[in-house]
Amino acid sequence: MKLSEFAKSILENGDIESKLVSTDSIEFDDWKPYTLEAPVRDEKIGFSHEQLRFPRGHFHEIKKRAMALNAFANHELLAVEIMAYALLLFKHDTPEEIRFKKGILSSLKDEQKHFCLYRKRLNDFGYEFGDFPLNDFFWDHMKKMKTPSEYLSMMALTFEAANLDFAYHYEKVFRDLGDIETADVLKIVYEDEISHVAFGVNYLNKFKEDKRLWDYYLSVLPEPLTPARSKGKIFHRESRKRARLDDDFLKELESFKNDFSILERKSWK
Ligand SMILES: [Fe+2]
Ligand SMILES: [Fe+2]
Repeated sequence: MKLSEFAKSILENGDIESKLVSTDSIEFDDWKPYTLEAPVRDEKIGFSHEQLRFPRGHFHEIKKRAMALNAFANHELLAVEIMAYALLLFKHDTPEEIRFKKGILSSLKDEQKHFCLYRKRLNDFGYEFGDFPLNDFFWDHMKKMKTPSEYLSMMALTFEAANLDFAYHYEKVFRDLGDIETADVLKIVYEDEISHVAFGVNYLNKFKEDKRLWDYYLSVLPEPLTPARSKGKIFHRESRKRARLDDDFLKELESFKNDFSILERKSWK
């Protein structure tokens, strides 16, 4: 399948199966300019502007677990859509640019897998994906990306990095509840996300030239996002070290504080 057909299948079809199209045997065709306001989604899985609060505990109730899994699955599907958009947005004229997109494809394949794993747990509990409102928070930020460094600063170093803390935290929550199957899914996601963050670190370290990674990250991260968005309630240093973030960056990030109440923190996990 041609790269452009692959990415458009994800973005311009509303059904889930079209978004789970295989990343195997993709051919790089000629790049053409492309923009999109929002990915197409069938009504059942469409974006809602309802303020959905992520459950703050009570996970012994199956419904609360299902609400969490519905939100987790949505973040994975959004990641698939955002990565498909990045594949269409940026050029691939040079071998280095093609290598970069192959890296995105490899992450995208993992996101499809994560989505399916969460959806399966949701189904095990008797729910379907889309039974609770779905937000478009990530898309809303990511649609503004213009360069690979903006893409990586938001996707890898902010949203996926925050997911390290969340996946680590919720793995423990579900394991303590005795829900080993869900905990194991979170563990898989956690391990994969380390490599997705590392992909971003690797490229941003090339793009930054002689700057500190922290300074470069701040200079390319589009407003209104701030590094506060790249952390969960707990700061898990070990996973970030494994993603090869340097000590200077981690020191700055760990002590970074700002008011993110305006950033709809409550509307996602
Ligand atoms: Fe993921
Ligand atoms: Fe990821």
